[in-house]
Amino acid sequence: MLSTQAIENIKKAIAKYPRKKSASMDALMIAQKECGHLTEDILLEIAHLLEMPPVQLNQVAAFYTMYNKRPVGKYHIQVCTNISCSLLGSEHIFQFFSKMLGIKKGETTSDKKFTLSEVECLGSCGTAPMMQINDDYYENLTEAKIEEILKTLK
Ligand code: FES
Repeated sequence: MLSTQAIENIKKAIAKYPRKKSASMDALMIAQKECGHLTEDILLEIAHLLEMPPVQLNQVAAFYTMYNKRPVGKYHIQVCTNISCSLLGSEHIFQFFSKMLGIKKGETTSDKKFTLSEVECLGSCGTAPMMQINDDYYENLTEAKIEEILKTLK
């Protein structure tokens, strides 16, 4: 269930648009920031606030990889494997993470600290290979950089 503050923030987002359902992406992100991931109950609550059919909101949430439909670890590592990143070694970067953390694509470490995901272009192709961890971008990745980042986060 969303907090009063989250509901207020969603209402403020709704006020920015001519139609309530236009605020669906803002509302999903507000809810995710608060809850970590989007459950069926939360999606229903948001759909009610936006006065839109729940199935439409589910489609928005399902389309974008930035919305978590299941729990993720404290640090959600999202490695871009699209064309620019792929040409500069993102598959190797992904496998390196997988080996370092002992998890595969979509899995979370047993201590709930890290989730490893593969995502499409994050719009930072000029600094490929890159990834996003929570709200931050990490670019021009190398094995040494990854070791340093993981050491800092652990
Ligand atoms: S292809 Fe990786 S950021 Fe665009």
